[in-house]
Amino acid sequence: MAKLKLFEYPHPILKKKAEKVQKVDDELRKLLDDMLETMYASNGCGLAAPQIGVSKRIVVIDIAHEDEEPKPLYMVNPEIVWQSEEKEISEEGCLSVPGQRAEVERPAAVRIKYLDYDGKEQELEANDFLAVAAQHEIDHLDGVLYIDKLSRLKRQMLLKKLEKYRKEHNA
Ligand code: NI
Repeated sequence: MAKLKLFEYPHPILKKKAEKVQKVDDELRKLLDDMLETMYASNGCGLAAPQIGVSKRIVVIDIAHEDEEPKPLYMVNPEIVWQSEEKEISEEGCLSVPGQRAEVERPAAVRIKYLDYDGKEQELEANDFLAVAAQHEIDHLDGVLYIDKLSRLKRQMLLKKLEKYRKEHNA
């Protein structure tokens, strides 16, 4: 496995709609493994392929706590097939927008269809933080970042803080 380079805002690949995967093969599984390792190494709980510069519809998620066993979830061509009318607000962050967090409102529960690590069709109903993480990652595949969901003012403030953060961290 290898840790991959993370692409950060405002890299144009993050704005691009990612391509559907045609086949879940060993090459794709290697990419999924590398994405998971990159995510763990960066202390993230979700990562979408565009964030490592690959415009493919794949995401990895692991919302297990640090003191729990890892519980990786691999999603190929994920699709939200149902979403609750009930919404929930929670704080989100993103490895492509380092050091920042903001509150975002999303449907509280979603049902997702996807192909798993072996290319088998799966359907999952996600609630709570898993629902947030899955929607955040699937948005990445459509070129959407959580900061795109903020009001203009909040977004501008966050981007200013991002600039400051980068200066302080020499990024
Ligand atoms: Ni993200």
